[in-house]
Amino acid sequence: MTRIYFNDVVARDGFQIESNFIPTDDKVKLVDALSQCGFAKIEVTSFTSPKAIPMLRDAEEVMGRIQRVSGVEYTVLVPNLRGAERAFESRADEFNLVMSTSETHNLANLRMGREKSFTGLAEVIRYVDGRTPINVSLSTAFGCPMEGDVPQAVVVGFVKRFADLGVRGVSICDTTGMAHPGQVARMANDLQQQFSELQLTFHFHNTRGMGLANVLAAVQSGIIRFDGSLGGLGGCPYAPGASGNISSEDAVHMLDAMGYDTGMNIPMLIHLARELPLIVGHPVPGQVAQAGSTCNLHPAPAYIAELR
Ligand code: COA
Ligand code: ZN
Repeated sequence: MTRIYFNDVVARDGFQIESNFIPTDDKVKLVDALSQCGFAKIEVTSFTSPKAIPMLRDAEEVMGRIQRVSGVEYTVLVPNLRGAERAFESRADEFNLVMSTSETHNLANLRMGREKSFTGLAEVIRYVDGRTPINVSLSTAFGCPMEGDVPQAVVVGFVKRFADLGVRGVSICDTTGMAHPGQVARMANDLQQQFSELQLTFHFHNTRGMGLANVLAAVQSGIIRFDGSLGGLGGCPYAPGASGNISSEDAVHMLDAMGYDTGMNIPMLIHLARELPLIVGHPVPGQVAQAGSTCNLHPAPAYIAELR
């Protein structure tokens, strides 16, 4: 059984786009509950400018109050040097640096061009100097909602430049659900051939209903690390048309049914997804939490007995 590693990003990608501020107590409780589900990694929050991402302005407090469970890595999003300093103080296990492979989305999201972002992130990597593992999330890697096509060669080029700087991992992010399975398989094969030493994570949004098909294409091409978001919440506030990530429980449920070893407690995950609407104040898109797992059967109607 191939082992698949999941990173839940609901507390960062999920909550950053909510219209109401999620109380700090609820964030801490949710991360603590996720810590019991078997995730390899949890993205807890984001050390961005509180003006840019006001929903995560309580990053220090959340990191300070969560109960860390051994075996789970607690990662945080870091956009610049100031973010890295804050992440060090919070004792994050991994820094998740971010930039976009599309010039227009990078300008919209980070207010600078890609080259300036790359230079800034290279400076962060030098400053961290191996003290904490670094992952780089490359946004809009399968297409940009404003520019359209992002050539695979551009994405591979950025992966190479970060690999040369010694990062531990790179996440290939489909920020607004533009990827299709054929494209995902090509990207997965190309990256694994060229960067066998890198931890490659694939990050999908289900904006056009292709999320789980893309997970399948990636897993069948040998990718073993995925981001997912409890309940399927999520989206970048600076990417027009953004909507939810693939739901962690839907992806885990599918891979588990196929015989992959996800290491996850699925009933516990479904229970948490069902409680999520009470925290965010609206329904969430994940489907398995609504339908129940395939092993939860319904009683047959009474009249069937007479027909047998
Ligand atoms: N943490 C806290 N505050 C920060 C910060 C950080 N990491 N980086 C910048 N700031 C503050 C500065 O202190 C400054 O504050 P002031 O106005 O009170 O003086 C203000 O933010 C602007 O700083 P500046 O360096 O000019 O940054 P900017 O306005 O060009 O913004 C980013 C750049 C990257 C910090 C900002 O665009 C950002 O945080 N974007 C978030 C992107 C994101 O997370 N998107 C969703 C996930 S993909
Ligand atoms: Zn995302």
